[in-house]
Amino acid sequence: MVGYAFMGAAHSQAWRTAGRFFDLPVEPDMAVLCGRDGDATRSAAAKLGWRSVETDWKQLLTRDDVQLIDICTPGDTHAEIAIAALDAGKHVLCEKPLANTVDEARAMVAAAERARARGVHSMVGFNYRRVPAIALARQLIAQGRIGEVRHVRGTYLQDWIVDPEFPLVWRLQKDKAGSGALGDIGAHVIDLAQFVTGDRLTGVSALTETFVKQRPLPAASSGLSASGSTERGEVTVDDTALFIGRFGGGAVAGFEATRFATGRKNALRLEVNGSAGSLAFDFEAMNELSFFDGAEDPATAGFRRILVTEPTHPYAGAWWPPGHGLGYEHTFTHEIADLLRDLGTGAEPSPSFADGLQVQLVLDAVARSAEAGSGWQRIEEVND
Ligand SMILES: NC(=O)c1ccc[n+]([C@@H]2O[C@H](COP(=O)([O-])OP(=O)(O)OC[C@H]3O[C@@H](n4cnc5c(N)ncnc54)[C@H](O)[C@@H]3O)[C@@H](O)[C@H]2O)c1
Repeated sequence: MVGYAFMGAAHSQAWRTAGRFFDLPVEPDMAVLCGRDGDATRSAAAKLGWRSVETDWKQLLTRDDVQLIDICTPGDTHAEIAIAALDAGKHVLCEKPLANTVDEARAMVAAAERARARGVHSMVGFNYRRVPAIALARQLIAQGRIGEVRHVRGTYLQDWIVDPEFPLVWRLQKDKAGSGALGDIGAHVIDLAQFVTGDRLTGVSALTETFVKQRPLPAASSGLSASGSTERGEVTVDDTALFIGRFGGGAVAGFEATRFATGRKNALRLEVNGSAGSLAFDFEAMNELSFFDGAEDPATAGFRRILVTEPTHPYAGAWWPPGHGLGYEHTFTHEIADLLRDLGTGAEPSPSFADGLQVQLVLDAVARSAEAGSGWQRIEEVND
């Protein structure tokens, strides 16, 4: 694994746990953790459960005890590491968004296709697909329980940079992150909306804004927390992105991704209205799914709260008795469990790099539309 901060800790927890709760055909061996600073990487490896360390990711390519590389670094490194890893015959799990640009994402898909021909596989880390309530929503829509999908409403709301003195961490720098709220959290809600509906966006019209244009340069930073110095630098990404879109199947959609929704911490919300019912999800109550069944007697019909913890619900049966609930970290454990099962059986892991490229094309269309005064931008189709 490369990178050992926020995602590094979440993925390590998943690598440690997946085989303890899910029956898997292969067992992970946490061979090596890679970071740039030897002492810090050794200390992280000891804490997170990795057996050895490297300080240059290129060393991972030559090691026989490495069969898969898990990329938990900022977006500016994804393409280089993933392509080199795949070309060296290592399976790859790469955090989202797949890359910082469409060109990088295309090169990664080309590398994934070359590798697949040699039995080497890849996956992009859209972990929220593995929330049991989201997986259930997808099943219900596929079964026709809400009929024809007409509206998709997706928001991802956070507030961690409302303070103008919050420093200029890598997520606020375009060369490191590619974009701001759009690629960081907008990518998740785009992927989820398409995953849940089984449909894809075909075009968008967008608006972006950067509310705080200069911030203190970071003195020290880790993940989402940092302290600032007295010097200031320019914020080169969006603080918020809003857009409307059309789905191929005829539904219309509205999206909002922001780090300025004061009071909202990780409000990843999705509502889907169909001709026969509706579904609604909010990550801040991630064990629940709201379902309105339009076929019910209007006298007693209403949104019902499904507690998605039954053994028959996706993923839930591997864990605790009904009602005991799961958390954020379980989404990563599910991701790793699915990946290992696919690698063991030779199935193609999902979401693929092609899925990552498709989300990248949506992000790109949103950015282009916002730059061009919100004009309509078509989204190119991606073949799986
Ligand atoms: N799936 C999710 O829910 C989710 C949540 C947060 C972040 N992410 C994604 O995960 C990735 C990492 O984000 P994060 O929040 O963990 O960031 P972070 O700042 O917490 O950690 C980044 C890590 O990468 C290391 N790093 C940076 N450049 C490196 C290099 N060249 N070689 C080796 N190590 C390097 C840093 O030292 C650090 O350990 C990003 O792509 C981000 O978008 C996904």
